[in-house]
Amino acid sequence: MSPSAAALHADIARVLLDETALKGRIAELGRQIAADYKGRRLMVVGVLKGSILFLADLLRALGPGADVEVDFVAVSSYAGKSSTGAVRMLLDLRASPEGKDVLLVEDIVDTGLTLTSLTETLRAHRPKSLEVCTLLDKTMCRKTPFTPKYVGFPIPNEFVVGFGLDYDEKYRQLPYVGVLKSEAARTT
Ligand code: IMP
Repeated sequence: MSPSAAALHADIARVLLDETALKGRIAELGRQIAADYKGRRLMVVGVLKGSILFLADLLRALGPGADVEVDFVAVSSYAGKSSTGAVRMLLDLRASPEGKDVLLVEDIVDTGLTLTSLTETLRAHRPKSLEVCTLLDKTMCRKTPFTPKYVGFPIPNEFVVGFGLDYDEKYRQLPYVGVLKSEAARTT
């Protein structure tokens, strides 16, 4: 279901992924991940804050039989619309990932710098396995080679917001992923 003209935020140039597309693909990802980890306990680690809506839907899509624990990390790599390249850990895991099957859940992979750094940091804690699930993947923007195991949607090199993704902390609540208008065309 595409948002009606009234529901479309004035700062969004166009909707890239509507609620129906997101829901359908996340259901598929959930089924795939549940099957891959069947019979094993999975530590799902959400990368704050962009993954929050995706994580909530993905957890439900894993189904009632999945054996999961949930934790969070927060890192900062962006200021405005460009990656700073420097990744800072703002919030660390509460539980140790040592010996566990860990799945990092991220909103978007762009340059790959954030997840390269984050996975290196987590690997130092010796998880049994470590994989990444990202909702969006800007594959052509990599500055370092990084291939997430689970990808919701490969997307073009455009700055997108909504469904958890922000621009300077705005637009996370939008139920769709949309391309942000240029600054001059925005109303807010
Ligand atoms: P990377 O380190 O360049 O791969 O960037 C990863 C992080 O950059 C993501 O977790 C997002 O927070 C942010 N990011 C990258 N592209 C976008 C975008 O199009 N919209 C909003 N945030 C983005």
